[in-house]
This record gives sequence, C-alpha cells and structure tokens, in this order.
Amino acid sequence: MFGSKIHLSSRNNHLFIEDVDCAFLAEKFGTPLYVTSESRLKENFRTYHRAFPDAEKYFAVKANGNLAILRILAREGAGADVFSSGELSIVSLAGISKEKILFNGNSKRWDEHIMAMEAGVRISVDSHEELDLLSQVASKKGHEVEVFLRINPDISPKTHPKIATGLKTSKFGIASEDVAEMFKRAMQLPGVEPVGLHCHIGSQILDVLPFAETMQKMMDIANSVVDIGGEIRFLDIGGGLGIQYMPDVPAKTPDDLAKSILPIFDSRCKEIGIHPKLILEPGRSIVADTTIMLTGVNLVKRAHVNFAAVDAGFNTLARPMLYDAYHHVVAVNKADEQPRDVYTVVGPICETGDILAKDRRLPEIGHGDVLAFLDAGAYGFSMASQYNGQPRPAEVLVSGSRAEIIREAEDHSTLLAGQRIPARLL
Ligand code: LLP
Repeated sequence: MFGSKIHLSSRNNHLFIEDVDCAFLAEKFGTPLYVTSESRLKENFRTYHRAFPDAEKYFAVKANGNLAILRILAREGAGADVFSSGELSIVSLAGISKEKILFNGNSKRWDEHIMAMEAGVRISVDSHEELDLLSQVASKKGHEVEVFLRINPDISPKTHPKIATGLKTSKFGIASEDVAEMFKRAMQLPGVEPVGLHCHIGSQILDVLPFAETMQKMMDIANSVVDIGGEIRFLDIGGGLGIQYMPDVPAKTPDDLAKSILPIFDSRCKEIGIHPKLILEPGRSIVADTTIMLTGVNLVKRAHVNFAAVDAGFNTLARPMLYDAYHHVVAVNKADEQPRDVYTVVGPICETGDILAKDRRLPEIGHGDVLAFLDAGAYGFSMASQYNGQPRPAEVLVSGSRAEIIREAEDHSTLLAGQRIPARLL
C-alpha cells in the first residue's frame, strides 16, 4: 500500500509508523503533529552512502532543522549545507564538525560572515562583490578563509520555476565564463583561499540528465581553473534529487544519480589531472519520506464540494499553497477502508488559497477523524509559520515502538514571546 515506504503500514485499519499507531500519536500529542521515523532517516542516509561511498554528504539543513534529526544525521556521518547563522549554530550543536560544513548564501549579513570565519567553516561565495568584501574583513580580522565559488551553470531542470536555481536568470551564482578569472583573483586577494567550486541547480528534479549535464559543465569550469594555475580541492554539485510524492510519478534514486554522474566525475578528473573531494547537498531525498504530518478533522462541510476542514493549514505545511505540491493523504483511523467520497482538504487560515489537498478520494470522514499527509519531512516544519495566531506544532521521533517528543508544540505564550508594549501605551 505504501510502496517503498516500509516504515509505514496499515494494521487493523490504522496507519502505523514503524510500530506506533498514528491514531495513538494524535491522541497523545495532539494535532497538528509532525512524526518522523528514525529507521527511515538512517536508511535514507545509508542509501546515499552506499551510492556515493567516497563523497561527502552535506545535508541541506533548510529542508529540516530539527536538532534531534540533525544529531542522527551527524552520527551517520553527514556534513551540512547551511544558509544562515541560525542554521550554523544548530548544526554545530548537533555535532557536525566544522570541516564538514559549508556556509552558503547569496545575501549573507556581515555578522554572518564573521561568525562563519570564527567557526572555521568554509564559505561559498556567490559574487565577486562578496569576494571583495569577505577578503577585506577576513584580512582585517587576521583570518584566512577557505572559499568555494558558487557557479550559475545555466541549466534548466524540469521543476517548479520557484525552485529552479541554476538558470542564468536566477539570483544565484557566478556566470560560468567569469569563474576562472575570479578564482585567480581570489588566489591573489588576502584573507581568502579558493579551494572549491559549488553549484545547485534546483529542487525536486525527477530526472538525472540535468545532473549529468551539470557535472560536465562543472568539469569544463574546473579545467579552466586549472589552466590559470588554480587548485580544485572540492567539487560540490549541490542537492536537488526529487522524490516520489504522487503514486504514479516515480523519482530517481541516489543510485541512479551515482550511475549518471560518477563516471563523468571520475573520467574528467583523470583527464584534467585533479583529485577533488566530491560533495553532495541532498535535503529532500534524505528527509521527505521519513515524516508524516497528522491533522485532525474539525468538520466536513458539504458545499459545492466536500470541504474537510482540518487543524493544519498552509501555516503548518506550506508546500501545497506555494508550489501546488501534492502530498498523499491517508485517513489514519480508516487506513484499510475503500474511498467513499471526494474531499478538498482545507486549513483554518483566513485565505481562500489555504488548500492542503484537492479532490482526494478518501473513506467517509468527519469530525474526530485524523488524516496523515505523507512525505512531509522536507520543507514541512522548516517552513511553518505562526500566521493567523497559530502556534507551530510538535515534532515526534518514532523508533520501533518508542515515540519521543523532539520539539514541543508552541502555545499562546509562544505567540507573545518577545513582544513588548512601549511604556507610553500602558
Ligand atoms: N543546496 C542548496 C544550495 C540549496 O539551495 C538547496 C535547496 C539544497 C542544497 C537542497 O535541495 P534538495 O535536495 O532538498 O532539493 N521549499 C522548496 C524547496 C526549496 C529548495 C531550496 N534549496 C520545496 O518545498 O519544494
């Protein structure tokens, strides 16, 4: 019933994650609720490791910034792609060592550059303007920062336009033709030492060909850098491998990705005479299918369609609203029942666009039932907000028959945290 998602099963009409009944989880911890399978998380990382034994896997923390999840990945040997000082501080706490952290970003604040320098992590530089500024500050502070140059490879992966990042027109990276010259300049500037090339072409990419094309381009650029006397110690190809969200739209595996890019990497490195460490930055393909989001049905309104009004909205899971994304829905306490009707699942937010799932065939549901949204582990909680005075939900980690809170639910006091009424208004 759940395909390759062996951490999910239906037992006696209830959805289980590992050996825990999701109806029990909803009752014990309340809804909405994010629930992650530890065994699936480890297995996903190990699948990458088997496919790319010699490459570093830098988990993209923006996909899921939960400390316990990062700790598990750290223990599995993951590094981290971080995009802010907040993400840097959390991965440090999770136990990821500085040698395996890359500080990315097209618009880093000044204090973030300083924090990254002081933490001793490598920085991916997005433009020559950033390179110059970084050189000035690093040399003033007496640091020598190892930098990657982020390349805009001008590759057009077939994905939602909002998450295609390697197009010429996107805000990310340095144009391919400018890279060699910039690398040379970085070699001459004080305070910075160029050590690698970096790119990321987009997310939820369902084919491996764009990655192969990107690898060829990166190798062409590596060649041009070697020609000007540069040394490439790291080649970072980014993340972006998609997952199967819809039952009939399959995705490629890390193994497919390895088969498509490693032969190019190996042969071209040999041809150019370089031995860089390969880095990958997977986010979604490590965490998405580890996690389900449980939401309680408040009521079903029979209007021109059947609206199943639930307690999670785009404040809880933003992807459907932002990208028209599909998340498969299962009725937790009716998991073996045949579909009886068609429902549009909507949240509590005061916007018409607050639709989590459209036209889904589900068993007969009503007040008190619980729905599970599958594949919610990537860009799920990490993009949740408090819009409309909605506290963000709890997160639970399941391992076998154990279920532990890894983030407490917020409450109304969290909504007020840090707010002040100026004395003159008291
Ligand atoms: N590296 C860099 C530099 C990135 O910008 C990203 C994602 C990744 C790695 C990880 O990509 P992944 O393996 O997860 O595809 N919120 C959107 C996705 C945004 C992706 C942003 N960058 C969504 O929910 O689909």
